[in-house]
Amino acid sequence: MMAAVKRGQVVHVLAGLENGFSTEPSGARPLLNGGGAGVPPLLMLCKQLVAEGKQPAVVMGFGSADEVFFEEVFHQLGVRTSVATLDGSQGVKGTVLDACRCGDSTFFYACGPAPMLRAVCLASDIDGQVSMEERMGCGFGACMGCTIVTLSGPKRVCREGPVFGKEELIW
Ligand code: FES
Repeated sequence: MMAAVKRGQVVHVLAGLENGFSTEPSGARPLLNGGGAGVPPLLMLCKQLVAEGKQPAVVMGFGSADEVFFEEVFHQLGVRTSVATLDGSQGVKGTVLDACRCGDSTFFYACGPAPMLRAVCLASDIDGQVSMEERMGCGFGACMGCTIVTLSGPKRVCREGPVFGKEELIW
């Protein structure tokens, strides 16, 4: 539909709601954890971190080799990139936690399925930001369908998130 839009035509778009990752607390060597469909949001973040002179590392998790994408894109940015697949058909067999060789990381970012986010948060002894995944009804704060419980009370992922600090989250 967007491709068919003519120059000058008016369109109504509801997109890009609420917050995103912040590069401010990342330190010099941030670690980006992406799982499946959670990988693409990390690309722009990675480009931004590189532009700021930081040295991000990326670790991506997929089910199997035929699901892997963006590995070359991240390589071209000059960042350390690791891949894990659950069936071991590409990269390290297991999850992002198995593929991570990033003990010197200063901060982490995570985007992906809830079990991955939980595992990354519980395994990390550094601070981080997590893009939470919830089913959404309205997408703009009205239906409360995406509410999660945090240490500072209930929060709507679409309105107060989707990115939350690791220290806010209850697993
Ligand atoms: S999806 Fe409706 S409040 Fe978040």
